[in-house]
Amino acid sequence: MAGSLFRTKSIDGLLAEVSRSGEATLKRTLGPASLVALGIGAIIGSGLFVRTAAAIAERSGPSVTIAFLVAGLGSAFAGLCYAEFASMIPIAGSAYTYSYATMGELVAWIIGWDLVLEYAVGAATVAISWSEYFNRALEYVGLHIPFEWCHSPFEVMEGAGGGAHGIVNIPAVAILLILSALLVRGTQESAFVNSLIVVTKVSIVLMVIAIGWGFMNPANHTPYIPAATTYTTGQGVVHPYGGVMGVLGAAGVVFFAFIGFDAVSTAAQEAKNPKRDMPIGILGSLVVCTILYVLFSHVLSGVATVEDFRTAGREASVAFAITKYMTGYAWLAKFVTIAILAGFSSVILVMLLGQSRVFYSMSHDGLVPEIFSEVHPRFKTPYKSNMLFFVLTALFGGFIPGDIVGEMTSIGTLFAFMLVCAGVWIMRVRRPELVRGFTVPALPLVAVLGIVVCGAMIYGLGWTNWLRLGVWLVIGLVFYFSYGIKHSRLETHAQAA
Ligand code: ALA
Repeated sequence: MAGSLFRTKSIDGLLAEVSRSGEATLKRTLGPASLVALGIGAIIGSGLFVRTAAAIAERSGPSVTIAFLVAGLGSAFAGLCYAEFASMIPIAGSAYTYSYATMGELVAWIIGWDLVLEYAVGAATVAISWSEYFNRALEYVGLHIPFEWCHSPFEVMEGAGGGAHGIVNIPAVAILLILSALLVRGTQESAFVNSLIVVTKVSIVLMVIAIGWGFMNPANHTPYIPAATTYTTGQGVVHPYGGVMGVLGAAGVVFFAFIGFDAVSTAAQEAKNPKRDMPIGILGSLVVCTILYVLFSHVLSGVATVEDFRTAGREASVAFAITKYMTGYAWLAKFVTIAILAGFSSVILVMLLGQSRVFYSMSHDGLVPEIFSEVHPRFKTPYKSNMLFFVLTALFGGFIPGDIVGEMTSIGTLFAFMLVCAGVWIMRVRRPELVRGFTVPALPLVAVLGIVVCGAMIYGLGWTNWLRLGVWLVIGLVFYFSYGIKHSRLETHAQAA
């Protein structure tokens, strides 16, 4: 049994598998520009437009900018490791595939299972944020969805006329349904729509920075790092606010904003020239976004107060801040709201795509049932997988608050990143001869720094999140030991031999 846990997939076998399967499986249609667009499409989203305000309100105040730098740094270290892996093993499946070839089946399973938090739970988080801005957009035309039908059962309406309990977040479920259906139809069309959205999204970020800069109130930035104290969330969880722990916790929260550059690596099987283009796609999108985030969050925390983000400006925070403080720019608030809706859609799309690709690989390997790799005869998409993940994401998006799913996504991804950093280092030692299109500079230093910075953010997220991650991993292990270990293709091959 111990042998099964640590058996690895051979990299040469993996590569042969890809060239053998050729056109029969996924189409190779993505060039470097589409990959960077795919990355930015996945990266800029609710992390910036929703989670930033949550981090300001609950964790760090204006020092959220420092939190963005910490999170960006951790992502950059992990991103370099991802890029080396992706250029060495250009196969769908991302961190899961890489770890299968390096650290063995059990670790691969843990990562694959963990990636469900990143992609599926992440998609649910963004869908919840989509619902907030959708409500705001409806207000512009005089419509309104009752609180009960756009919040989870764990949320209670605050303020005047408050007290209503959420029942289900219907807009979140609806957007997940529409985008899952689009994915069933095919990736190429989705990537094209995505490129259009990316341009809009980057434009609104630049506009908010440029116009908002003049509306910043220095009082909102004083003190820049609030004194250390605590904050109690709507769900009754107490965590540190201000000081170093505030910044670390905020980094864990806004780390969500960086998730997605690794989704580029899950598209490796669809890249025209993965060796050259994957590192460009991953690192290019990361650098652009880090610069934008620091500037944007500096402006947002300068325009509105921490108290705003704890009360009235909690939802659709960017539109709120513009409407309340930037007189004469009502049009910008409207434009931002619409563009954010489009932007969030592209993020959800890429996350759902990443999720189905990871399970496609896992299913091919026998670790999850075959249904996840059944390809549609005409559309060539893993359509059954898309439909099953719609159900899972709808459960999270419809019935759990955004704060909780958001932090679960962050912690799950951070954990996967730590394993990737370790894996790239192990591979250099074990298989130095393998050809790599891109190599991480200063290894093992970069891998160690990646592990330390991501670990610090996990620490900052606090024990409730550690517990959630622990429970999720235990459920995964039960699945593995009752299904995966027996159905693994490596197991069936070994028995046949
Ligand atoms: N980075 C993506 C977002 O912020 C997941 O929405």
